[in-house]
Amino acid sequence: MRKEETESVVTNYNLMDDNTLDNTIRPESIDEYIGQTDVKENIRIFVEAAKMRNEPLDHVLLYGPPGLGKTTLAFIIAHELGTNIKTASGPSIEKSGDLAAILSSLEPGDVLFIDEIHRMPRYIEEILYPAMEDYSLDIIVGSEGNSRNIKIDLPPFTLVGATTRAGDISAPLRDRFGIVSKLQFYSVEELTDIVKRTSRVLEMPITEEAAKELAKRSRGTPRIANRLFKRVRDFAMVKKSNEITKEITEEALERLKVDKLGLDNTDRELLLSIINKFNGGPVGIEALSSTIGEEVTTIEDVYEPYLLQMGMLKRTSRGRVVTDKAYEVLGIEKRK
Ligand SMILES: Nc1ncnc2c1ncn2[C@@H]1O[C@H](COP(=O)(O)OP(=O)(O)O)[C@@H](O)[C@H]1O
Ligand SMILES: [Mg+2]
Repeated sequence: MRKEETESVVTNYNLMDDNTLDNTIRPESIDEYIGQTDVKENIRIFVEAAKMRNEPLDHVLLYGPPGLGKTTLAFIIAHELGTNIKTASGPSIEKSGDLAAILSSLEPGDVLFIDEIHRMPRYIEEILYPAMEDYSLDIIVGSEGNSRNIKIDLPPFTLVGATTRAGDISAPLRDRFGIVSKLQFYSVEELTDIVKRTSRVLEMPITEEAAKELAKRSRGTPRIANRLFKRVRDFAMVKKSNEITKEITEEALERLKVDKLGLDNTDRELLLSIINKFNGGPVGIEALSSTIGEEVTTIEDVYEPYLLQMGMLKRTSRGRVVTDKAYEVLGIEKRK
């Protein structure tokens, strides 16, 4: 491989980056959606029941770290209901008229997907309450001094909200969701299946052991598995290999600095700075945030959940503490 090629592969690499690839390999039906068994089975039943009653599905709130399949599931819900889906994102709805326009464009039974619903302004949220509860839109028309309230009936619809921070959703909004589901990190077996599925969709064969190796290093996250697959595929193509082998995978991941556990640079920096600068902790999230230069919310939503799940980090009342396992994994002697 020429030098520029290696470099471009490396600099383009970002674990949490954009959605360009997502759409082509996103599963469309619930049967293609791998893992999340409990969530999936519940949704299957609720969709079936709603269809039998000929009623819209109850509103659904999906939450969990980025890349675990919330958007995918929202589209699958619409697919299984046999309805259309309209999408919006919390921070992009700025004016009450924006939401009113979206709501009044819905057809009976449609799914309205609002991503990052925790970032919706409060005054917009308040328009959603009657819409969710009674399918009605209460808006104020006219100018100041001469304004009046009008009530518009909306068709029955299903709101699917997605968020990385369930804790940031106001109680009145949360209470209006009939179905609340938390997505979990995926097991290595599930991620192996996801990698194999992606390999079929993108028509680039991968060996079983290479798929498993990729899965192990994907931080329990399908988006990362798919992204790594794409990068590894680049290496295989440049090497003129017609399949992705374990050797190619290991070499590519080494270059991309993804270690055996799938930790990336920020994960390692986070753990290392607690160890080196705060003597293993406890350290408050604010201090940690300024030390590693990542936003508090990014640490809490993106990095911490996986490190907690892997047992490398603990949250105590006095702050974050690294565990013995983290020392072991990083190969660092614990100071007394
Ligand atoms: N259960 C799953 N089975 C197969 N692929 C999945 C699954 N969940 C997510 N993916 C893949 O991961 C990508 C990211 O998922 P997405 O729904 O965008 O995550 P989120 O909205 O939670 O950030 C999708 O494009 C899809 O290809
Ligand atoms: Mg999403």
